[in-house]
Amino acid sequence: MPDLSTLIKALKPSSTMAFNTKANEMKRSGIDVIAMTAGEPDFQPPEHIFAAAREAIDKGMTKYTAAAGTVELREAIVGKFKRENNLSYEPSQIIVGTGGKQILYNAFMSILNPADEVIIPAPYWVSYPAQVQLCGGVSVPIMTKPENGFIPDIADFKAAITPKTKIIVLNSPSNPTGAVYPRELIKDIVELAASKDIWIFTDDIYEHLIYDGEFTAAAGFAQDKTLVIHGASKAYALTGWRIGYGAGPVELIKAMGRLQGQSTSGANALAQHAVVAALNEVEKTQEFIDMTKREYVKRRDVLVSGLNSLGLKTPKPQGAFYVMADLSPIHEDEMQAALILLNEAHVGAVPGTDFLAAGQARFSYATGLENIEKALERIEKLLKDRNTGCC
Ligand SMILES: Cc1ncc(COP(=O)(O)O)c(C=O)c1O
Repeated sequence: MPDLSTLIKALKPSSTMAFNTKANEMKRSGIDVIAMTAGEPDFQPPEHIFAAAREAIDKGMTKYTAAAGTVELREAIVGKFKRENNLSYEPSQIIVGTGGKQILYNAFMSILNPADEVIIPAPYWVSYPAQVQLCGGVSVPIMTKPENGFIPDIADFKAAITPKTKIIVLNSPSNPTGAVYPRELIKDIVELAASKDIWIFTDDIYEHLIYDGEFTAAAGFAQDKTLVIHGASKAYALTGWRIGYGAGPVELIKAMGRLQGQSTSGANALAQHAVVAALNEVEKTQEFIDMTKREYVKRRDVLVSGLNSLGLKTPKPQGAFYVMADLSPIHEDEMQAALILLNEAHVGAVPGTDFLAAGQARFSYATGLENIEKALERIEKLLKDRNTGCC
């Protein structure tokens, strides 16, 4: 076969997808696996969103939209920011893309030159460093600890900044840790970045999934130097419909739009129409979000107390639908531990290796309580069988 590019050859597959695929293959072969690997809600979206999608089909919305997204959707997104975050944007400052993931990629591509540095608190979502690498940039992780609830220290940001620093990435609530950063910390990080003319990329995709504490919009502290990355996947359970959006200074949004115009021509027209309903039919959408939050919080509490009582230390996160657990009682190497968990206990979790979380694994609780309880029973049996001295 003719050769592939050096960049692509260096790109690792996502470990989340790898473990998810393995868990699903085992399921297909008839093994009763409890997959706590995927980062997607197990709920179906509410009926008004389906109705809007049907309406889009009935009205024959089959054509390309504007590359940056329909005016209708961009106006609905402007409305969301005003209503929920007290942030004022013009539709020209909004871009819609094929998931938050594409928005991020457009943005890294629009800003990074070779060897530019991007500061990212870790454990981090694996796509950040992968996308930075694809754009020729260099990731600079800021390590956080479970005993501090994975909250970073402002001193570490100060120490990590160099003349090459172009972007600081914030993600609160965080994937994979579920950490929600305090308002003062976000303010300090944004002000630090602004004073050094560094971009803030604030990935707010889990904004609506906070169980204790409050969401802080980083853009509120320096809107002209901040790109918000957001989307419909997590709060509205629309992962497969692939709608994300970005909000930021018009020059950056235009640059991202040029790239999108040449790469994908924009997001799916039917899904864009449906997401307008998700954003504008505020009460119905809020009811759905409240229902999912009530379920997530029950699941989080059962999972965190269950794992801790089995000796797998797990901080209680305030948001998203993930926990990070210490798997060292199973095996000191987290990759081995996650394989043992999957192969012997038939519980799928994502090893922390690619998140920079040595010894740990991410469990998603976007699955029913029954599954969580069953997973805990299986882990208990595994630990007993391996004579770990547990329970
Ligand atoms: C932290 C974070 N940001 C962004 C995304 C992108 O989601 P999507 O492309 O489905 O909008 C995800 C999805 O897992 C995520 O966990």
